[in-house]
Amino acid sequence: TYVIAQPCVDVMDKACIEECPVDCIYEGERAMYIHPDECVDCGACAPVCPVEAIYYESETPEEWEDYARINVEFFEELGTPGGSRNVGPIGKDHPAVAVLEPQGQ
Ligand code: F3S
Ligand code: F3S
Repeated sequence: TYVIAQPCVDVMDKACIEECPVDCIYEGERAMYIHPDECVDCGACAPVCPVEAIYYESETPEEWEDYARINVEFFEELGTPGGSRNVGPIGKDHPAVAVLEPQGQ
């Protein structure tokens, strides 16, 4: 799966969601998250992100390697909605994102 890492926090450009053929990029409060089971690894999202927040999981820079787990855990309560349009904005973040100082200023 692909992973959205820390550069998305407080930026949320959302160019990525236009590219995703399976609508598996979900909106939290301060960041977007990729559903690890719904992502088909097409890779279309990564090059359009203006802050280079999106990586194939094994290629995520070391400083953000926790984000593979963070993207997985974000969906523990949500399950597998089958597309972000089915749920809309989630209105909260993974706790590790929620506690971050304001980013991207
Ligand atoms: Fe975030 Fe980049 Fe998408 S900033 S919303 S991952 S285009
Ligand atoms: Fe969608 Fe990106 Fe995966 S475009 S299918 S989230 S690689």
